[in-house]
Amino acid sequence: TPIRAAAPLRAADDDAIARAGEILAGGGLVAFPTETVYGLGADATNPRAVAGIFEAKGRPRFNPLIVHVASLKDAAAIGTLNTVARALAERFWPGPLTLVLPRRADSPVAELVSAGLDTVAVRVPAHPLARRGIAAAQRPLAAPSANASGEVSPTTAQHVADSLDGRLDLILDGGACEVGVESTVVDTTRTPPVLLRPGGIPREALEAVVGAVAEPGGSGGAPASPGQLTSHYAPDHRLRLNAATVAGDEGLLAFGDDVPPGAAVTRNLSPAGDLREAAANLFAMLRDLDRQPVRGLAAVAIPDHGLGRAINDRLHRAKHEGV
Ligand code: TXA
Ligand code: MG
Repeated sequence: TPIRAAAPLRAADDDAIARAGEILAGGGLVAFPTETVYGLGADATNPRAVAGIFEAKGRPRFNPLIVHVASLKDAAAIGTLNTVARALAERFWPGPLTLVLPRRADSPVAELVSAGLDTVAVRVPAHPLARRGIAAAQRPLAAPSANASGEVSPTTAQHVADSLDGRLDLILDGGACEVGVESTVVDTTRTPPVLLRPGGIPREALEAVVGAVAEPGGSGGAPASPGQLTSHYAPDHRLRLNAATVAGDEGLLAFGDDVPPGAAVTRNLSPAGDLREAAANLFAMLRDLDRQPVRGLAAVAIPDHGLGRAINDRLHRAKHEGV
């Protein structure tokens, strides 16, 4: 049986680290301290495990997550670092800096981590327990702040337990986080690079290395919330929602065992009607359907509870932001 949040394990305990590695490799959730805030970690290469993060946080939408790796070399296997990204990584990693990179075509990271975007956010944390957790898991770890949706980021193991008790498998207790605010997020896919979220590394420090760093709304504007700064994946095809019937030239996104017949091509998010499996498949299946030679896309109704709310949020955005 998993070790529950009510009984956080000790930082210095080798057994706890080994157990964390096993849980993560098996698709479970482990909270770990970083130098900024505690993260809720899962195997970034396992879409079901990543869906578990959203489920545990109760997030009503799929925001893209930060991938935590051991080194610049490991980051380069996930996304492409241009000259600016490389200069920032060499100066500030390990540390509280997250770089948004173009996803590599052969990136092992689940599409759900990027919430369907062509970019991926990566950082190399400095905290020894975060580093030991990554090493024990032997895979990149997707980790948002380890709090339930709508709560502030946790800076102690007790905060994590208070917020997510019973919804994760293990908490590595490293005491209070040193920095206490989240990492600085920089989009390196644009020129000049854009500061998406202020955080542990000040803008001036970035600019000393790479020159001008832009703010998303231009200087002087009201700070936008991070969620609004992220553009969303939108399919090229028109998307119809709550479809009960489907035309022969449409691509169908189905769910459960009640599948309207006759579509040109059908992808079922979860034949068993499991919302976590559906979340894990959502972006890959949407992209796949969007590439098919069809007139348009149709999606059946998805139950609007738990992860279903986040799936529906995304489908509504895809509908409005699509052609
Ligand atoms: O300090 C931190 O960054 C902590 C620790 C655990 O590492 N993590 C954290 O994660 O704050 P989260 O999920 O709470 O915030 C991630 C931020 C969000 O603002 C998100 O929009 C942005 O990173 N982000 C992630 N992937 C992105 C992408 N591909 N493009 C643009 N923004 C992205
Ligand atoms: Mg957060």
